[in-house]
Amino acid sequence: MEIKADGKDGSLVLLKQGAEARVFESTFVGRRSIVKERFSKKYRHPTLDSKLTIKRLNAEARCTTKARRLGVCTPVLYAVDPILHTLTFEYVEGPSVKDVFLDFGSNGVVGERMDDIVVQIGDAIGKLHDGGLIHGDLTTSNMLIRDNTNQLVLIDFGLSFTSTLPEDKAVDLYVLERALLSMHSSCGNVMDRILAGYRKSSKQWSSTLNKLAEGAKSPSHIFGSSAKEVESAPWLGDLERSCEAIPRITWIRELWQVTVWICLFVARRSSAAMLLMKDESFGKRAKESQYSW
Ligand SMILES: Nc1ncnc2c1ncn2[C@@H]1O[C@H](COP(=O)(O)OP(=O)(O)OP(=O)(O)O)[C@@H](O)[C@H]1O
Ligand SMILES: [Mg+2]
Repeated sequence: MEIKADGKDGSLVLLKQGAEARVFESTFVGRRSIVKERFSKKYRHPTLDSKLTIKRLNAEARCTTKARRLGVCTPVLYAVDPILHTLTFEYVEGPSVKDVFLDFGSNGVVGERMDDIVVQIGDAIGKLHDGGLIHGDLTTSNMLIRDNTNQLVLIDFGLSFTSTLPEDKAVDLYVLERALLSMHSSCGNVMDRILAGYRKSSKQWSSTLNKLAEGAKSPSHIFGSSAKEVESAPWLGDLERSCEAIPRITWIRELWQVTVWICLFVARRSSAAMLLMKDESFGKRAKESQYSW
Protein backbone atom coordinates (compact mmCIF):
# COMPACT_ATOMS: atom_id res chain seq x y z
CA MET A 1 0.00 0.00 0.00
CA GLU A 2 1.33 3.45 -0.92
CA ILE A 3 2.11 5.55 2.14
CA LYS A 4 2.45 9.32 1.90
CA ALA A 5 3.35 11.17 5.03
CA ASP A 6 1.91 14.58 4.18
CA GLY A 7 -1.53 13.92 5.72
CA LYS A 8 -3.32 15.36 2.65
CA ASP A 9 -6.56 13.92 1.24
CA GLY A 10 -6.33 10.14 0.70
CA SER A 11 -2.77 9.87 2.00
CA LEU A 12 -1.86 7.60 4.87
CA VAL A 13 -0.04 8.54 8.06
CA LEU A 14 1.12 5.54 10.08
CA LEU A 15 -0.23 5.63 13.66
CA LYS A 16 0.54 2.13 14.84
CA GLN A 17 2.37 -0.93 13.60
CA GLY A 18 1.14 -4.09 15.31
CA ALA A 19 1.91 -7.77 14.85
CA GLU A 20 -1.17 -8.38 12.67
CA ALA A 21 -2.15 -4.96 11.38
CA ARG A 22 -0.99 -1.44 10.60
CA VAL A 23 -3.22 1.47 11.58
CA PHE A 24 -3.12 4.70 9.54
CA GLU A 25 -4.82 8.03 9.75
CA SER A 26 -6.26 9.21 6.44
CA THR A 27 -9.25 10.96 4.91
CA PHE A 28 -12.23 9.30 3.26
CA VAL A 29 -14.46 11.49 1.08
CA GLY A 30 -13.18 14.51 2.95
CA ARG A 31 -13.66 12.98 6.40
CA ARG A 32 -10.92 12.16 8.87
CA SER A 33 -10.62 8.38 8.93
CA ILE A 34 -8.69 5.38 10.23
CA VAL A 35 -7.38 2.75 7.81
CA LYS A 36 -6.56 -0.63 9.32
CA GLU A 37 -4.50 -2.84 7.06
CA ARG A 38 -4.01 -6.53 7.79
CA PHE A 39 -0.73 -7.59 6.27
CA SER A 40 0.37 -10.99 5.09
CA LYS A 41 2.63 -13.24 7.14
CA LYS A 42 5.57 -14.36 5.05
CA TYR A 43 5.94 -17.66 6.87
CA ARG A 44 2.43 -18.77 5.89
CA HIS A 45 1.61 -20.52 2.62
CA PRO A 46 0.53 -17.65 0.28
CA THR A 47 -2.89 -19.10 -0.65
CA LEU A 48 -3.77 -19.96 2.92
CA ASP A 49 -2.37 -16.65 4.15
CA SER A 50 -4.61 -14.73 1.78
CA LYS A 51 -7.69 -16.76 2.81
CA LEU A 52 -6.94 -16.29 6.50
CA THR A 53 -6.31 -12.54 6.13
CA ILE A 54 -9.59 -12.02 4.23
CA LYS A 55 -11.48 -14.16 6.75
CA ARG A 56 -10.21 -12.04 9.66
CA LEU A 57 -10.83 -8.80 7.77
CA ASN A 58 -14.45 -9.80 7.11
CA ALA A 59 -14.89 -11.03 10.69
CA GLU A 60 -13.74 -7.67 12.08
CA ALA A 61 -16.05 -5.78 9.72
CA ARG A 62 -19.01 -8.04 10.57
CA CYS A 63 -18.48 -7.90 14.33
CA THR A 64 -18.01 -4.10 14.35
CA THR A 65 -21.31 -3.61 12.54
CA LYS A 66 -23.06 -6.25 14.64
CA ALA A 67 -21.98 -4.40 17.80
CA ARG A 68 -23.48 -1.23 16.38
CA ARG A 69 -26.74 -2.99 15.68
CA LEU A 70 -26.78 -4.16 19.30
CA GLY A 71 -26.69 -0.54 20.44
CA VAL A 72 -23.01 -0.32 21.27
CA CYS A 73 -21.23 2.70 19.92
CA THR A 74 -18.47 1.77 17.43
CA PRO A 75 -16.79 3.80 14.70
CA VAL A 76 -18.77 3.88 11.45
CA LEU A 77 -17.30 1.42 8.95
CA TYR A 78 -16.77 3.42 5.75
CA ALA A 79 -15.21 0.79 3.49
CA VAL A 80 -13.84 -2.76 3.20
CA ASP A 81 -11.15 -3.46 0.60
CA PRO A 82 -10.56 -7.21 0.19
CA ILE A 83 -7.71 -6.62 -2.30
CA LEU A 84 -5.64 -4.26 -0.15
CA HIS A 85 -6.88 -6.01 3.02
CA THR A 86 -8.04 -2.77 4.60
CA LEU A 87 -10.94 -1.52 6.66
CA THR A 88 -11.68 2.20 6.72
CA PHE A 89 -13.40 3.59 9.80
CA GLU A 90 -14.65 6.92 11.02
CA TYR A 91 -11.94 8.69 13.08
CA VAL A 92 -13.16 9.03 16.66
CA GLU A 93 -11.95 12.30 18.18
CA GLY A 94 -11.05 11.83 21.81
CA PRO A 95 -8.74 10.03 24.22
CA SER A 96 -8.64 6.31 24.97
CA VAL A 97 -9.94 5.06 28.33
CA LYS A 98 -6.34 3.98 28.93
CA ASP A 99 -5.15 7.59 28.71
CA VAL A 100 -8.00 8.84 30.90
CA PHE A 101 -7.32 6.19 33.58
CA LEU A 102 -3.55 6.79 33.45
CA ASP A 103 -4.25 10.46 33.99
CA PHE A 104 -6.51 9.57 36.96
CA GLY A 105 -3.68 7.39 38.27
CA SER A 106 -1.17 10.24 38.27
CA ASN A 107 -3.39 13.28 38.98
CA GLY A 108 -6.18 11.76 41.06
CA VAL A 109 -9.51 10.23 40.07
CA VAL A 110 -12.28 12.58 38.95
CA GLY A 111 -15.21 10.77 40.57
CA GLU A 112 -18.00 11.92 38.28
CA ARG A 113 -16.08 11.18 35.09
CA MET A 114 -14.96 7.80 36.39
CA ASP A 115 -18.57 6.88 37.31
CA ASP A 116 -19.77 7.82 33.87
CA ILE A 117 -17.05 5.77 32.13
CA VAL A 118 -17.39 2.59 34.22
CA VAL A 119 -21.17 2.54 33.82
CA GLN A 120 -20.78 2.94 30.04
CA ILE A 121 -18.20 0.14 29.88
CA GLY A 122 -20.43 -2.28 31.86
CA ASP A 123 -23.45 -1.32 29.79
CA ALA A 124 -21.64 -1.79 26.46
CA ILE A 125 -20.25 -5.23 27.38
CA GLY A 126 -23.67 -6.33 28.66
CA LYS A 127 -25.27 -5.37 25.34
CA LEU A 128 -22.57 -7.19 23.35
CA HIS A 129 -22.89 -10.34 25.44
CA ASP A 130 -26.70 -10.44 25.39
CA GLY A 131 -26.48 -10.14 21.62
CA GLY A 132 -24.11 -13.13 21.51
CA LEU A 133 -20.98 -11.16 20.65
CA ILE A 134 -17.67 -11.59 22.46
CA HIS A 135 -15.22 -8.72 21.99
CA GLY A 136 -12.14 -10.87 22.57
CA ASP A 137 -9.74 -8.04 23.42
CA LEU A 138 -11.31 -5.88 26.09
CA THR A 139 -8.51 -3.55 27.10
CA THR A 140 -8.66 0.14 27.93
CA SER A 141 -6.79 1.02 24.71
CA ASN A 142 -9.64 -0.49 22.72
CA MET A 143 -12.11 1.94 24.30
CA LEU A 144 -12.27 5.59 23.24
CA ILE A 145 -14.14 8.51 24.79
CA ARG A 146 -15.64 10.82 22.21
CA ASP A 147 -14.83 14.50 22.79
CA ASN A 148 -17.74 16.75 23.79
CA THR A 149 -20.30 13.95 24.34
CA ASN A 150 -18.08 11.70 26.52
CA GLN A 151 -19.63 8.73 24.76
CA LEU A 152 -17.76 5.43 25.04
CA VAL A 153 -16.76 3.96 21.66
CA LEU A 154 -15.53 0.36 21.42
CA ILE A 155 -12.93 -0.39 18.73
CA ASP A 156 -10.76 -3.27 17.55
CA PHE A 157 -13.12 -6.19 16.94
CA GLY A 158 -10.27 -8.12 15.29
CA LEU A 159 -10.52 -10.96 17.81
CA SER A 160 -14.29 -10.90 18.19
CA PHE A 161 -16.56 -13.85 17.65
CA THR A 162 -20.15 -14.86 18.22
CA SER A 163 -21.02 -17.06 21.19
CA THR A 164 -23.83 -17.38 23.68
CA LEU A 165 -21.76 -19.46 26.12
CA PRO A 166 -21.38 -17.96 29.60
CA GLU A 167 -17.81 -19.34 29.63
CA ASP A 168 -16.83 -17.17 26.66
CA LYS A 169 -18.48 -14.11 28.19
CA ALA A 170 -16.69 -14.79 31.50
CA VAL A 171 -13.30 -14.98 29.76
CA ASP A 172 -14.07 -11.68 27.99
CA LEU A 173 -14.60 -10.07 31.42
CA TYR A 174 -11.61 -11.85 32.89
CA VAL A 175 -9.32 -10.44 30.18
CA LEU A 176 -10.61 -6.97 31.06
CA GLU A 177 -9.99 -7.54 34.76
CA ARG A 178 -6.40 -8.58 34.05
CA ALA A 179 -5.86 -5.52 31.88
CA LEU A 180 -7.23 -3.23 34.61
CA LEU A 181 -5.11 -4.86 37.30
CA SER A 182 -1.92 -4.59 35.30
CA MET A 183 -2.44 -1.04 33.97
CA HIS A 184 -4.74 0.84 36.31
CA SER A 185 -4.44 -0.54 39.82
CA SER A 186 -3.92 3.02 41.11
CA CYS A 187 -7.51 3.87 40.11
CA GLY A 188 -8.97 1.57 42.79
CA ASN A 189 -11.30 -1.35 42.14
CA VAL A 190 -12.64 -0.35 38.75
CA MET A 191 -13.73 -3.90 37.85
CA ASP A 192 -16.39 -4.13 40.56
CA ARG A 193 -17.93 -0.91 39.33
CA ILE A 194 -17.89 -2.12 35.72
CA LEU A 195 -19.58 -5.35 36.83
CA ALA A 196 -22.28 -3.34 38.60
CA GLY A 197 -23.02 -1.67 35.24
CA TYR A 198 -22.87 -5.05 33.53
CA ARG A 199 -25.49 -6.49 35.89
CA LYS A 200 -27.88 -3.69 35.06
CA SER A 201 -27.31 -4.05 31.34
CA SER A 202 -27.22 -7.81 30.80
CA LYS A 203 -30.27 -10.00 31.34
CA GLN A 204 -27.97 -13.02 31.50
CA TRP A 205 -25.54 -11.50 33.99
CA SER A 206 -25.97 -14.16 36.62
CA SER A 207 -24.80 -17.16 34.53
CA THR A 208 -21.84 -15.15 33.24
CA LEU A 209 -20.74 -13.85 36.62
CA ASN A 210 -21.15 -17.31 38.14
CA LYS A 211 -18.82 -18.66 35.47
CA LEU A 212 -16.40 -15.84 36.18
CA ALA A 213 -16.33 -16.88 39.84
CA GLU A 214 -16.22 -20.58 38.96
CA GLY A 215 -13.40 -19.92 36.53
CA ALA A 216 -10.65 -20.22 39.07
CA LYS A 217 -12.17 -23.27 40.73
CA SER A 218 -12.83 -25.24 37.51
CA PRO A 219 -10.72 -23.72 34.80
CA SER A 220 -11.75 -26.39 32.30
CA HIS A 221 -15.06 -24.53 31.97
CA ILE A 222 -13.38 -21.42 30.73
CA PHE A 223 -11.91 -22.15 27.34
CA GLY A 224 -10.68 -20.52 24.23
CA SER A 225 -11.01 -16.75 24.31
CA SER A 226 -7.94 -14.89 25.55
CA ALA A 227 -6.39 -15.45 22.18
CA LYS A 228 -4.18 -12.41 22.33
CA GLU A 229 -2.32 -13.52 25.46
CA VAL A 230 -2.12 -17.03 24.13
CA GLU A 231 -0.95 -15.93 20.70
CA SER A 232 1.77 -13.87 22.30
CA ALA A 233 3.25 -17.00 23.93
CA PRO A 234 6.65 -17.21 22.25
CA TRP A 235 6.65 -20.96 21.69
CA LEU A 236 3.41 -20.74 19.69
CA GLY A 237 5.03 -18.17 17.39
CA ASP A 238 8.11 -20.38 17.03
CA LEU A 239 5.92 -23.32 16.11
CA GLU A 240 4.06 -21.27 13.50
CA ARG A 241 7.32 -19.91 12.09
CA SER A 242 8.78 -23.40 11.85
CA CYS A 243 6.73 -23.83 8.65
CA GLU A 244 9.22 -21.52 6.99
CA ALA A 245 12.08 -23.87 7.79
CA ILE A 246 10.47 -26.75 5.91
CA PRO A 247 11.96 -27.19 2.42
CA ARG A 248 9.86 -26.02 -0.48
CA ILE A 249 8.40 -29.42 -1.25
CA THR A 250 4.76 -28.40 -1.19
CA TRP A 251 3.08 -31.48 0.25
CA ILE A 252 5.55 -31.82 3.16
CA ARG A 253 5.17 -28.12 3.93
CA GLU A 254 1.38 -28.29 3.84
CA LEU A 255 1.23 -31.47 5.89
CA TRP A 256 3.41 -29.79 8.52
CA GLN A 257 1.28 -26.66 8.38
CA VAL A 258 -1.92 -28.63 9.01
CA THR A 259 -0.22 -30.40 11.95
CA VAL A 260 0.88 -27.05 13.39
CA TRP A 261 -2.63 -25.64 13.09
CA ILE A 262 -4.10 -28.58 14.97
CA CYS A 263 -1.48 -28.08 17.73
CA LEU A 264 -2.20 -24.34 17.86
CA PHE A 265 -5.95 -24.95 18.05
CA VAL A 266 -5.59 -27.38 20.96
CA ALA A 267 -3.03 -25.14 22.69
CA ARG A 268 -5.17 -22.01 22.40
CA ARG A 269 -8.20 -23.77 23.81
CA SER A 270 -6.30 -25.06 26.81
CA SER A 271 -4.04 -22.08 27.50
CA ALA A 272 -6.86 -19.79 28.61
CA ALA A 273 -7.60 -22.39 31.27
CA MET A 274 -3.94 -22.40 32.30
CA LEU A 275 -4.05 -18.63 32.69
CA LEU A 276 -6.92 -18.96 35.13
CA MET A 277 -5.27 -21.78 37.04
CA LYS A 278 -2.14 -19.71 37.53
CA ASP A 279 -4.03 -16.71 38.85
CA GLU A 280 -4.58 -17.87 42.41
CA SER A 281 -5.45 -14.41 43.67
CA PHE A 282 -8.38 -14.33 41.28
CA GLY A 283 -9.63 -17.66 42.64
CA LYS A 284 -9.33 -16.52 46.22
CA ARG A 285 -11.18 -13.32 45.55
CA ALA A 286 -13.87 -15.13 43.61
CA LYS A 287 -14.37 -17.57 46.48
CA GLU A 288 -14.68 -14.72 48.91
CA SER A 289 -17.41 -13.35 46.63
CA GLN A 290 -15.77 -9.99 46.36
CA TYR A 291 -18.10 -9.46 43.42
CA SER A 292 -21.37 -9.35 45.25
CA TRP A 293 -23.75 -11.02 42.83
N1 LIG B 1 -11.74 4.71 14.79
C1 LIG B 1 -10.67 5.18 15.45
N2 LIG B 1 -10.61 6.47 15.81
C2 LIG B 1 -9.52 6.97 16.45
N3 LIG B 1 -8.45 6.24 16.78
C3 LIG B 1 -8.45 4.93 16.46
C4 LIG B 1 -9.56 4.32 15.78
N4 LIG B 1 -9.27 3.02 15.56
C5 LIG B 1 -8.06 2.82 16.08
N5 LIG B 1 -7.54 3.95 16.63
C6 LIG B 1 -6.23 4.12 17.28
O1 LIG B 1 -5.33 3.15 16.78
C7 LIG B 1 -4.92 2.24 17.83
C8 LIG B 1 -4.80 0.84 17.26
O2 LIG B 1 -6.04 0.42 16.71
P1 LIG B 1 -6.60 -1.07 16.90
O3 LIG B 1 -6.70 -1.37 18.32
O4 LIG B 1 -7.83 -1.21 16.07
O5 LIG B 1 -5.41 -1.88 16.21
P2 LIG B 1 -4.61 -3.13 16.70
O6 LIG B 1 -3.49 -3.35 15.76
O7 LIG B 1 -5.56 -4.25 16.84
O8 LIG B 1 -4.05 -2.67 18.05
P3 LIG B 1 -3.70 -3.51 19.35
O9 LIG B 1 -2.82 -4.64 18.93
O10 LIG B 1 -3.03 -2.49 20.23
O11 LIG B 1 -5.02 -3.94 19.94
C9 LIG B 1 -6.01 2.38 18.89
O12 LIG B 1 -5.52 2.05 20.17
C10 LIG B 1 -6.39 3.84 18.77
O13 LIG B 1 -5.46 4.66 19.46
MG1 LIG C 1 -6.31 -2.47 19.82
